[in-house]
Amino acid sequence: MQKIIILDFGSQTTQLIARRVRELGTFCEVLPYNKYPEDDTDVIGVILSGSPYSVNDPEAFQVDLSRFRGRLPLLGICYGAQYIAHTGGGKVESADSREYGRQQLVTICKDNPLFHGFDDNSQVWMSHGDTITHLPAGAQVIASTETVENAAYYIPAPQGQQSVWAVQFHPEVYHSLQGTLLLENFVCGICGSRREWGASSFVEDTVAELRRQIGTDRVILGLSGGVDSSVAAVLLNRAIGHQLTCIFVDHGMLRKDEFRNVMRDYECLGLNVIGVDASEKFLADLAGVRDPEQKRKIIGRDFVEVFNAEAAKITDARWLAQGTIYPDRIESLNITGKVIKSHHNVGGLPSDMKLRLCEPLRWLFKDEVRRVGRELGMPDTLIGRHPFPGPGLAVRILGDITREKIQILQEADAIYINALRDWGLYDQVWQAGAILLSEVRSVGVMGDERTYENPVALRAVTSSDAMTADWARLPYDFLARVSTDIINKVKGVNRVCYDISSKPPSTIEWE
Ligand code: XMP
Repeated sequence: MQKIIILDFGSQTTQLIARRVRELGTFCEVLPYNKYPEDDTDVIGVILSGSPYSVNDPEAFQVDLSRFRGRLPLLGICYGAQYIAHTGGGKVESADSREYGRQQLVTICKDNPLFHGFDDNSQVWMSHGDTITHLPAGAQVIASTETVENAAYYIPAPQGQQSVWAVQFHPEVYHSLQGTLLLENFVCGICGSRREWGASSFVEDTVAELRRQIGTDRVILGLSGGVDSSVAAVLLNRAIGHQLTCIFVDHGMLRKDEFRNVMRDYECLGLNVIGVDASEKFLADLAGVRDPEQKRKIIGRDFVEVFNAEAAKITDARWLAQGTIYPDRIESLNITGKVIKSHHNVGGLPSDMKLRLCEPLRWLFKDEVRRVGRELGMPDTLIGRHPFPGPGLAVRILGDITREKIQILQEADAIYINALRDWGLYDQVWQAGAILLSEVRSVGVMGDERTYENPVALRAVTSSDAMTADWARLPYDFLARVSTDIINKVKGVNRVCYDISSKPPSTIEWE
């Protein structure tokens, strides 16, 4: 399949470039700047991302452009544009003032294929401390702003070779109003993408690939009730049917009726699922433990034990399937070159694991996973679910965990989540949940009686990837309704608060 390679120099918006290219029906891979593939037969173009570095920094990331330049169309974005200039005889200098924010392209060379269809004064988003003061050899300016003369340039190639384009602004961000058009011009117009990538082609290709890879082997998959593992299971089920066994562990800290409802959904989808109620073990091991990290460790350890014990019963299994998705795998580099995000899904696997890993969603972003789920005919109740943490309500009950506290929180959380659905707000937030502040008690009055009970905090955030999040501006009337319902209906709660902290500095979960 045709693909675009995006070489990542550590910019925060590299993933966004990939998102935009995929939205154009074109498969792309984000690779660390120095990992251009040996075999690039299917590659139709290369994009160089931005970076937190300056090209003049002695430690700046270097890339050997000769691996692809001239053979494939090349687009440099921000640092990418400056790097091509810097290494091609041009000059990049610290800008007098940091060029940041919205600007208009006051001159645009609309004859150039990169700017076909552009409007006059098209708005772009700049974010750089350096600027290109002299263009590299053979380059022509193709767009300027009031303050940035070399906002975009073009180096035409000799006959039989491919040209180079470069932009100092970020076409991938929302504020570059015709940024998607620019990327479309590059990916489809210049590189010649046939726009063959999409949910249905993904399902078709992946099912064929899984059949080839797995043959007649048996596969085990741990279901969590979340979107990723569920879509992975349904995809595998389509490919290999009952050679797949799914294991769904109930640790006793799921949402109200979650285990039963999710099991029912899975069975309706025709999955071969073993539901394991291990809540006794988890709650016994957690008894009296108050430290959040300790709680997480116990839950992680118990989960691996319970899962492995079940998996061991399937003696002829050869593969362990996981719902790992693309953002889990992309290695974002920070300024020191260290990996800041590592593959979290395999963290709990034993080092001597004999099973081979199968990760059919490893190329997909979250919303692509949802599209694939829809393509597979999965119900919206499963596909549109909010993320839910592996340790479940344990990280939403401050202090130690007891069955009574779990039950109180399940009731309050169910009122809140059902109300979000009833008010049509559920799909507007990334994630929501209630937290039992069981280490706190406050005085209240109910009827003529004094109460001295726990508060419940409500959390709802908007986000695109959970790395950063803002608190959701839910309507006051909605919050008032939920507060009244929780206090009236949930025994043990006499106060409701709404969490108005964003991430950073506050994490989404309280523990
Ligand atoms: P934080 O609290 O770090 O959470 O802002 C970011 C996202 O990750 C989820 N989360 C977890 N998911 N195991 C998981 O599978 C965990 O231990 C865990 N901790 C947090 C959280 O719900 C949010 O979506």
